[in-house]
Amino acid sequence: MTDLIPALSPEEIAEIEHEVSLIPRRDGAAIDALMIVQRHRGWVSDASIKAVAALLEMSAEELDGIATFYNLIFRQPVGEQVILFCDSVSCWLRDADSVKQRLIDTLGIDYGQTTQDGRYTLLPVPCLGACDRAPVMMVGDELHSQLHDCDLNALLAPGEASD
Ligand code: FES
Repeated sequence: MTDLIPALSPEEIAEIEHEVSLIPRRDGAAIDALMIVQRHRGWVSDASIKAVAALLEMSAEELDGIATFYNLIFRQPVGEQVILFCDSVSCWLRDADSVKQRLIDTLGIDYGQTTQDGRYTLLPVPCLGACDRAPVMMVGDELHSQLHDCDLNALLAPGEASD
């Protein structure tokens, strides 16, 4: 049963309670709590949504709405590294489409998918705030810019890309 994996660990609960202690309302810690769970587990399951909502004294539906709206909260399992590819106007104007196609060809996946080896998940995001260096993407915590001049194979672990 899924109950074999606790929806929240004691460490996660302690970290969430710490965030709650810093603000006047328990539900004000919703995004921080979701990020804590994601840092521990890589994503936020339905069971964790319910457990966090109970801890924050809010409804699971309300918390799920926040999690779904906030595109850096992953509601499905993701790869070891998430690639956030900027899909906004400044990047479009600097040929992001052809970079995106090279990325798709290199990884063998499209938006919303994870490579077979579990290394990468590719997701579109709105402007990453680096328009002057477009086109850009984040790989994990690292920003990569001016991608039209970039060797994507080298950037994404040479020899490990899917066909
Ligand atoms: S539009 Fe891509 S970084 Fe702003």
